[in-house]
Amino acid sequence: MLLGKLFTMCELISFRMTITIIGSGKVGASIALNCGMRDLDDLILIDIVQGLPQGEAMDINHQLAEMGIDRSVRGSNNYADMVGSSIVVLVAGLGRKPGMTRMDLLQTNANIIREVSMKVASYTKSAKLIVVTNPLDPMTYLALKTTGMNKDQVMGMGGLLDLSRFKNFIRESTNVSSESIHAMVISEHGENMLPLTRFSCISGIPLSEFITDEVQSRIFEATRKVAADVIALKGATIYAPGNAVATMAESIIKDKKSVIPVSALLMGEYGARDLCIGVPTILGEKGIEKIIELRLNDTEREIFHRGMNSVAEAIRVIMH
Ligand code: NAI
Repeated sequence: MLLGKLFTMCELISFRMTITIIGSGKVGASIALNCGMRDLDDLILIDIVQGLPQGEAMDINHQLAEMGIDRSVRGSNNYADMVGSSIVVLVAGLGRKPGMTRMDLLQTNANIIREVSMKVASYTKSAKLIVVTNPLDPMTYLALKTTGMNKDQVMGMGGLLDLSRFKNFIRESTNVSSESIHAMVISEHGENMLPLTRFSCISGIPLSEFITDEVQSRIFEATRKVAADVIALKGATIYAPGNAVATMAESIIKDKKSVIPVSALLMGEYGARDLCIGVPTILGEKGIEKIIELRLNDTEREIFHRGMNSVAEAIRVIMH
């Protein structure tokens, strides 16, 4: 109790805010590097493996020094070092092996997220929390419930990574700059992902003006499957997830109010209640400032509902 009060005071008087990344493996290190290169904030990498976060921090510091970015990156095995963080990223846990689905990680990673979320609640409850560990939507829900944070504070990164893959396929098939491509991917970060070709455009011009329905269907399917291809080839996805988390952190820190798909707690939106799933949101200094409700057609709604059912079942398994 006294310790809790002391940490709240420390949070209040802490002038140097930090981004804390819990889990300093492949994706955690990539998140730190991407946040560092964008000069967002000082960084702390935490892990249970002795030496790993310290080594990653040194390596990243060396790169930033040469780039002229004066940020401090620190590695630690002590959860208490996250006190006063403005943003905490949860990326501790197992990744899937070739042939596995994200849901195969459910029980193992739930134990890790439960443990780590309790630490977040005791050390830095006013932070914004970005969950990355898979299966993403149930883990976001578990972190939200375990920390007791507000629903605006807690979000999962999945949709933005799916979107970066979707955009790459659109770029390849249209041969236009990805700068001009605006698209959206929602629903479960998993088997029921929903790339929204109907809501995608190139500088305001509908995608259908550039590519046929058949090519759009091919891109839709490719986006849903491509993460498994990367994992089969190199064992993990690393750089694009790091960039996606940094984009979310940047929108929060700079109060950019970017429209970004994140896994958010729905309380009636999209006909869902009390589950986390990918939807378009406005991200700003308050965290999730608005959930944008799209009018889905029958086919889209069916996939979204399958996503909701899959996430609801996973939540039922881990919460009982
Ligand atoms: P990794 O195995 O390279 O790193 C995981 C790290 O977590 C390890 O260093 C491990 O020591 C650490 N860890 C385990 N328990 C911990 C605890 N209690 N406290 C602190 N650290 C702990 O795995 P990788 O590739 O970095 O992936 C991490 C997670 O991110 C996986 O669940 C993976 O599926 C997920 N992921 C999610 C993505 C998304 O779009 N949401 C994209 C890519 C990966």
